[in-house]
Amino acid sequence: MILGIESSCDETAIAVFDPKIGIQGEWIRSQIALHGKHGGVVPDLASREHVKELGPLIQLSKSKWSSGQLESIAVTYGPGLAPCLALGVAAAKALALALNIPVKGVNHLRGHVWSVFIDTHRADPSHFDDALDKVLPHLSLIASGGHTILCRINKDRTIDFLSSTRDDAAGEALDKGAKLLGLGYPGGPLIEKLAVGGNVNAFDFPRGLGRKSELEFSFSGLKTSLRYTLEAMEKTAVEVQMSDLCASYQQAVVDALARKSRAALQLGNYRSLGLSGGVANNGLLRKTMGLEAHRKQIPFFAARPEHTGDNAAMIAFAGFVDTARVLAGGFDLKIEPGLGL
Ligand code: KG4
Ligand code: ZN
Repeated sequence: MILGIESSCDETAIAVFDPKIGIQGEWIRSQIALHGKHGGVVPDLASREHVKELGPLIQLSKSKWSSGQLESIAVTYGPGLAPCLALGVAAAKALALALNIPVKGVNHLRGHVWSVFIDTHRADPSHFDDALDKVLPHLSLIASGGHTILCRINKDRTIDFLSSTRDDAAGEALDKGAKLLGLGYPGGPLIEKLAVGGNVNAFDFPRGLGRKSELEFSFSGLKTSLRYTLEAMEKTAVEVQMSDLCASYQQAVVDALARKSRAALQLGNYRSLGLSGGVANNGLLRKTMGLEAHRKQIPFFAARPEHTGDNAAMIAFAGFVDTARVLAGGFDLKIEPGLGL
């Protein structure tokens, strides 16, 4: 079994993965309420929470494993906030030392990429390799608060970076949009809720830059467009049209993500499409990306809701499946806050 540890940002999470069965248990403490008051994640506060939570969560996880059963500890070593990553890696090393087992360094972004296959494995663990082989090459879209990335999992499980955003991430665009609208943090779920029943065509927001075939995302124009729209409106009109504003804004973000994913699907010979990261919680995005896969007649894999945001199940699972890349061995494992894909 593999114990997964995630502490790169504002979630402290532990998971136990059994290659023969799947995720055996997962425990997560979210700091959303704490950081919500500040309108974003405060690294110093986040690291204090990780210190507080890591020990008790590891203790809880012991209901699912005993020493001798753990083969390794998979821990996020980047990208993320340095003081937060450091705590997860330190906890992993301490526990690994006590149990005399290796530490595997997992790239958080690759954790998101692989998260969409957790349920595929669980459905039939003994035939997982064949099931995975059938759906590679795979096009993956990670859409979170910090990242918007298109990448490709090749047949040999290596991952090629395709594109990211030249400015804001998709989740960031939703969070900043929500702030302009006077809503709370995080903005994505609030906008989604208020968008229900709104007219998606009430406001004509831009769908990112670039030619159709270009894969790079851009969301800063969308945010600026919302600001100008709001500046030109009376306060009462904004309140009256809140639902239309949210619906139109959300549609613009989803269209931009779907448009570039479609372009990427056109450029490669893909056998499946995946969606992960916090924004993958969004119902409209899940539906729209599902339709893109349907158009190409390939299966669509979306991370299940508890595995869209940051979690340790995806880290433990990546420690198992990402045979091309996981860093093994190490008490010399270092944190890499700026790590790319
Ligand atoms: O993956 P995540 O938990 O954190 C990062 O690693 O960045 O993603 C958080 C982001 C936030 O920007 C939040 O607004 C967005 O995911 N989000 C959503 C929804 N739930 C979370 N965006 C749209 N619709 C949602 N239901
Ligand atoms: Zn993440």
